Amino acid sequence: MRLLAMRLAAALLCVMPAVSVRAQPVSSSTVTAVPRLVRVTGTFRPANGLQAAPVEIVTLTIYAEEKGGPPLWQETQTVAIDAEGRYTIVLGSTLPDGLPLELFATGEARWLGMHVERPGEGDQPRVQLTSVPYALRASDADTLAGKPASAYLLAEPGPGPVPDWVIVSDDARQYELGFLKTGKEADVHLVERRHGDRVNILAVKRYRKFEDRMFRNDARYRAGRRTGESRLDKAISHGNRIGMAFRAQQWLTTEFEILCRLWSLGAPVPYPVQQLGNEIMLELIGPPDDTAPRLVNTRPDPDEAVALWDQLVEALFTMVGAGVVHGDLSPYNILVDAGRLVIIDFPQAVDPIANPDGLSLLQRDVDNVSDWFTRRGVDCRAADLYAQLLTEAMR
Ligand SMILES: Nc1ncnc2c1ncn2[C@@H]1O[C@H](COP(=O)(O)OP(=O)(O)O)[C@@H](O)[C@H]1O
Ligand SMILES: [Mg+2]
Repeated sequence: MRLLAMRLAAALLCVMPAVSVRAQPVSSSTVTAVPRLVRVTGTFRPANGLQAAPVEIVTLTIYAEEKGGPPLWQETQTVAIDAEGRYTIVLGSTLPDGLPLELFATGEARWLGMHVERPGEGDQPRVQLTSVPYALRASDADTLAGKPASAYLLAEPGPGPVPDWVIVSDDARQYELGFLKTGKEADVHLVERRHGDRVNILAVKRYRKFEDRMFRNDARYRAGRRTGESRLDKAISHGNRIGMAFRAQQWLTTEFEILCRLWSLGAPVPYPVQQLGNEIMLELIGPPDDTAPRLVNTRPDPDEAVALWDQLVEALFTMVGAGVVHGDLSPYNILVDAGRLVIIDFPQAVDPIANPDGLSLLQRDVDNVSDWFTRRGVDCRAADLYAQLLTEAMR
């Protein structure tokens, strides 16, 4: 077991530029540009001699000493592991603000402990964070994982061509502006990205930890999505911690991937700016001080209602043609921005054919929205629409 225990092969820290610099409107913390994320790479070999799962849960703890002593800081992350057992962890990435500044304030070295949350795994030997990580910034921040050191550095970027309005500059700074909305699985915040005199105000959807969510039963949506790893598939269907964490990550990855696909096809969805950790950053729909209302909160007159319905029908054809059934389509997940309809909230989206429930979810989506529009005087002909969408899905 010791032989096969996890090796922190040349565990390495690089310091990220300030992905999450914040000006806090509510607390008294000082504004800072100090980077708060530390990258650690290593190799994991499970104690039982089997291959690591594609995703493991890892608890990371920072200590002042090599052995013993109280933990100074801790976080648990889901970590993707490749076929050779290699992984990259970004310390601080589960928190909006990254690592607390106080951790390194004294300039003393810190020790990193790691524990892979699976039966039979002990604590791994601690690894010294040999220098105050901030000092490494200058030498290490030029390229990381082959990507330029920028606000995009760690993030999965949105699809190209990136719209002109999106600030992608290396030294853009980001500031938290506060809450926008609380949802079922995520909270949506406003973030300002600033470079010179250019400003983006963006919506950031931050998924809660799986255990903290009011989670709808996701079995229907998961059907037909397998990982190809039987241990993980079992864990997912049994709903144990590893499975839960993987499901949580799948939820977010699905939303980002679907938004990218649909945006590229010209469907009316927010531009997905980036995915990073537990959050996706989106084009903000509507002005920052008066964001677009949900369809359910609008009172369109009959002509406006018909115009919105037409946009929705066109969007449904684009979606089904792209192999996407929303799965939770309703007037709550549609925004209206000055007459323009925008569909949001895709984590549960499924393929109409590959998912055994795909077509019944499509029917439910069509029924949900046509009920609402019918009450607004639109002649929706839901049955015909569903039949046509079915034909589109089968093509
Ligand atoms: N891109 C956006 N622009 C403006 N408002 C948004 C945006 N994304 C989400 N919101 C607001 O946040 C709320 C919750 O977002 P949603 O994606 O529906 O999450 P949930 O799954 O928690 O319902 C929405 O109802 C909407 O009011
Ligand atoms: Mg929603």
